[in-house]
Amino acid sequence: MIHPHSPNQLRIGIVGLGYWGPNLARVLNSLDNCVVTVLCDRDPERLKAFGQKYPMALTSVDAAEIMTTDHVDAIIISTPTKTHFQLAQLALTNGVHTFVEKPLATSTAECDSLIHLADTNNLKLFVGHIFLHSAPVAKLKDMVLNDEFGEIYYMSSTRLNLGPVRYDVSALWDLAPHDISIMLELMGSPVAVNCSGLAYLNPSNHDVCTLNIHFEDNRMGIIHVSWLDPHKKREMTVVGSKKMAIYNDIESLEKIKIYDNGVEFEDLSHQDDTTYADFRVSYRYGDIHSPRINEVEPLKAELMDFIDCITANKQPKTDGRNGRDVVQVLEAADLSLNQKLGDVQLSTLKRGDSVKEMKLVK
Ligand SMILES: NC(=O)c1ccc[n+]([C@@H]2O[C@H](COP(=O)([O-])OP(=O)(O)OC[C@H]3O[C@@H](n4cnc5c(N)ncnc54)[C@H](O)[C@@H]3O)[C@@H](O)[C@H]2O)c1
Repeated sequence: MIHPHSPNQLRIGIVGLGYWGPNLARVLNSLDNCVVTVLCDRDPERLKAFGQKYPMALTSVDAAEIMTTDHVDAIIISTPTKTHFQLAQLALTNGVHTFVEKPLATSTAECDSLIHLADTNNLKLFVGHIFLHSAPVAKLKDMVLNDEFGEIYYMSSTRLNLGPVRYDVSALWDLAPHDISIMLELMGSPVAVNCSGLAYLNPSNHDVCTLNIHFEDNRMGIIHVSWLDPHKKREMTVVGSKKMAIYNDIESLEKIKIYDNGVEFEDLSHQDDTTYADFRVSYRYGDIHSPRINEVEPLKAELMDFIDCITANKQPKTDGRNGRDVVQVLEAADLSLNQKLGDVQLSTLKRGDSVKEMKLVK
C-alpha cells in the first residue's frame, strides 16, 4: 500500500533502521509537513520488526530499489559510515534530495564527488551535524559573535562512553565529528591537526584518541574521544580572555554554565625593587550563571531544517561543503595518527586538494 499524503507533504525514505534510524522515523512521524513513505534495512528481521510500527510505509531490503521508486522526494541515510558514499551517490544519481548521517563519507574525495553530484542535479545534500541545530551551541556561537568570551584561547571537549563500538570506523570517525563540527562553527577554518590514539579491541580501529586542532591566532581545539570508558561524558569547555563556559550536554536543565573567571597579569618590571618576578598574577573568580536556553529537540530542529531547505529551496547550513570540512579534519587526523609523526598542515590546502597528498611536518 502507498502511504496517503497531501501535496504539501514531503515524502521521505529512511535507509538504516539500527540504533539511530528509529529516532529519525519517530521525529519525522511527528511532523506535519512530511510523511515517511519508505523504510529500508538490509537486515530483513530488523526491517520486518520495525516496518510493523509503520504499516503504511513500503519496505525493502534493497536501497537501490527504494531510491528508484516514485514514492520518495528525499532519502535519509542512517547506515554505518563506510556505506554512506555509495548510498548517497545512488540517491543523488536518482534525483533524490539526500540527508547523510555524520560523517558524510570516508574521504574528502568522496565528499567532493557527492557535492558535485548534488550541485549538477540541483539537489540538496544535507549532513547530520546535529549539534549545529542545538540551542546550547547556538548560544555559544552568539557569545562568540558578541565578543562575550573576549579573545578565545582554546576549546576542549570530552565525548566518552562504554560503547557503542563500531566495526567499520574508529572512535575518532564515529564520535569526533560532533566536536569538530562545533569547533569549526565557533573558531573558523583549521590550520593544522595533530592526533594520537590506540586500538585495543580491534587492531584496525582506534578506541581512544586525542585530537588537537590548531586555528589561526594561536587558538586550539582539544578533543578526547573514547568508546572504552566507564563514564558517559559529553562536555565542552570554552576558555576566553574575558569569560569561560562549560557546556555539559548530559545535564537536562543547566546545560551551559558561564564563568566570569579569568587571569590577569600586572606588569611590575618598571619597579626597581622587583626581586624574583616581573609580573603579578591575579585570578578573577566572578559570578557563575546558567543562561536560559529554550531548547527544541536538536533532532527535530535538524529534520525541520532539512525539509525547509528542500521546500523553500534554501542552502543548508550543514551542506556537503560543511560535511567535507569535518571529513578533511578527520582525514588529516588519520594521517597524523597512523604515521605517528606530527602536525598535518591544513592552512595551505585549497578547496578540492586532497589531505592524502599532504606532507607531514615533524
Ligand atoms: N546524530 C547523532 O547523534 C547520531 C547518533 C548515532 C548514530 N549516528 C549516525 O547514524 C548512522 C547509523 O548509526 P547507528 O548507530 O544507527 O548504526 P547501527 O549499526 O545501529 O545501524 C545501522 C543499520 O543500517 C543497516 N544497513 C547497513 N548497511 C546497509 C545498506 N547498505 N542498506 C540498508 N541498510 C543497511 C544495518 O542493517 C543496521 O540496521 C551512523 O552514520 C552514525 O554515525 C548519529
